[in-house]
Amino acid sequence: MRIGVDYYPEHWEKERWKTDAEMMAKANIKVVRIGEFAWSLYEPKENDFHFEWMDEILDFFREHGISVVLCTPSATPPKWMVDRHPDIYQDDIHGQPKIFGTRKHYCFNSETYRRLTQGLVEKIAKRYGSHPAVEAWQVDNELGWANTTRCYCDKCKKEFQNWLKEKYKTIETLNRVYGTVFWSQIYNSFDEVIIPRAGACYDTCHDTQGQNPGLLLDYYRFSSDSVIRFAAESAETIRKYSDRPITSNLLDAAINSGTGIDYFKLAQHLDFVSWDNYIEFQWGIAEAATVSRDHALLRSYKKQPFWVMEQQSGPCGWSKMGPAPTPGKLRLWTYQAVANGADTVVYFRWRACSFGTEENWHGILDHDGKPNRRYREIVQIGSEMERLSKMLGVLSPKAKIAVIKSFDSEWSQSIHRYVENFHYDEFLLSFYKPFYDKGLSVDFAAPGDDLSSYSLVLAPALLMVTEAEQKNLEDYARAGGTLLFTFRSGIKDVCNNMLQQTVPGVFSELAGVSASEYDPQFEKETASSGVYGSGVSKLWCDVLEPQGAETLGVYTQDYYAGKPCLTVNSFGKGSVYYLGCDLSSDAMERLADYLCARVGLDQRPCPVEGVEQVDASDGKQRVLFLLNHNSSAAVVPLFGRFENLLTGQSEGSTAMLEPYGVAVLKYPEA
Ligand code: GLA
Ligand code: ZN
Repeated sequence: MRIGVDYYPEHWEKERWKTDAEMMAKANIKVVRIGEFAWSLYEPKENDFHFEWMDEILDFFREHGISVVLCTPSATPPKWMVDRHPDIYQDDIHGQPKIFGTRKHYCFNSETYRRLTQGLVEKIAKRYGSHPAVEAWQVDNELGWANTTRCYCDKCKKEFQNWLKEKYKTIETLNRVYGTVFWSQIYNSFDEVIIPRAGACYDTCHDTQGQNPGLLLDYYRFSSDSVIRFAAESAETIRKYSDRPITSNLLDAAINSGTGIDYFKLAQHLDFVSWDNYIEFQWGIAEAATVSRDHALLRSYKKQPFWVMEQQSGPCGWSKMGPAPTPGKLRLWTYQAVANGADTVVYFRWRACSFGTEENWHGILDHDGKPNRRYREIVQIGSEMERLSKMLGVLSPKAKIAVIKSFDSEWSQSIHRYVENFHYDEFLLSFYKPFYDKGLSVDFAAPGDDLSSYSLVLAPALLMVTEAEQKNLEDYARAGGTLLFTFRSGIKDVCNNMLQQTVPGVFSELAGVSASEYDPQFEKETASSGVYGSGVSKLWCDVLEPQGAETLGVYTQDYYAGKPCLTVNSFGKGSVYYLGCDLSSDAMERLADYLCARVGLDQRPCPVEGVEQVDASDGKQRVLFLLNHNSSAAVVPLFGRFENLLTGQSEGSTAMLEPYGVAVLKYPEA
């Protein structure tokens, strides 16, 4: 475990670099990430390439013993380029070019841009592929950030038509699977198929634009594939000249509300994944459980340690700022990342830039570049990391619970939400948090992943699955796994059409239940009670009829009072729960208790409100992280004697945590 910083040598005079490197060394900063926005410096005019500036920077960091993550600079095509090749521009949903002046203004399907990008990436990789300072590569920057995954230009339209032809082979098949007979949308050729720009009904319903749901979902899949292809091209080019690992910095699912990229698929082209973790900034303040969930997503995309490539380290925003990180929070956020599987935490950014869009985006240092309170906190963290890294390997929680995350289900539900206030990622979080509160780590898994290591698999609103994914889930339960589905699972085919089967569709046999009807909780809520005590549903109620399953909960209100809302079915050696409704958070906590008891999962003995407890291991040693997200001190009862690796003291029956404090407790040797 170690720390790094995102650094922009091109933003300051060279004389300053030495001061910076010395201050970084004092903070035990081991790695810098550079160059993601530097195309104009590499190629200020067409075919006028300059590398001496980067030669100097890399040699400088090699001399200072700081390794480098070198980025491919495709996130900001220069002005001369888009003037010369306006076909590079991405078009918005109205078909208007997203013009020069900010960043991310390029189309991932622009052949011109793909060619020019691979041309420069090849030069950079050839020149620096084995440079002793280069430790790793970052492809582009935040692929898809600011809704730039989905482009509506004519190039994408042509590519989309080819993509469809490859997938459906005949236009008759496309018409059939899309149901284009609806509203007279039958196509006579693939050349007629539209790209779903804002149409006549756009102002009626921005979510779906009123377009065909099958076409929309395929367009979202095509857009994700286009971004992944663009990134994979750069990764493949780098690999021709460099054996250093390749990443790209992903976005969280919370405040950036997803990018429209299937990260499980993107991760297959990367050697490790990384992400950008902003917690309290202009666009919102994320709860600790949400940040923990995002770390869990990152460690799940490749089932291996990840990096935080941009860890917030100051008050930040564009047009206005979020709060300054309270003393202790930088350290708390860093340990939260390490506890949940990060092996490197890189702070964004070294020093606030005094010009450009992000003059308000502070990093460790302010505009004056002087050591400050945040820098001193980073020095403390760096010193601790230096010490801990000599005692521990890379840590990761060993979760026995997994939540199924399906990008197809997420995107389909962004097209046709069932009811106001339903948000897929928030719904998944409502299954993550109760276990987080109990100190139990939760992984995420794609529907086709190997689930055999998990005692409990939760599949909230798993709308559609392929036959192979369905079999994977059945095999898991049959072999003795415990599976839980919720409402809106199994009810669509992979072409995004409703199945003409009774709910829960393809999961009916697994769950041993059917729904006689369902009641979207629009401006209403319904009480229920069961093994989780009493609960309230505010989103949805499937009115269940057991078909072999046992009833564990019933509605206590409305015209379906007395009807089941929660059932469990024996399937093979396993158990399959079906939760036909959403539940208030208190009821979810109690349902989690019930499920833990059923599958024999030991919760942390004494959870303390606001203290995140993460049990992690480096494969040899087991460590308990106590992360106090409270603004007040916390006392955590302990059972067993632990060695506090940060203080060197052995902890007795309790651990005392100051506000935003951290404890790293080593379990006694087994
Ligand atoms: C993203 C980008 C950074 C920076 C921050 C702040 O994380 O990767 O370059 O722009 O946003 O906006
Ligand atoms: Zn395009």
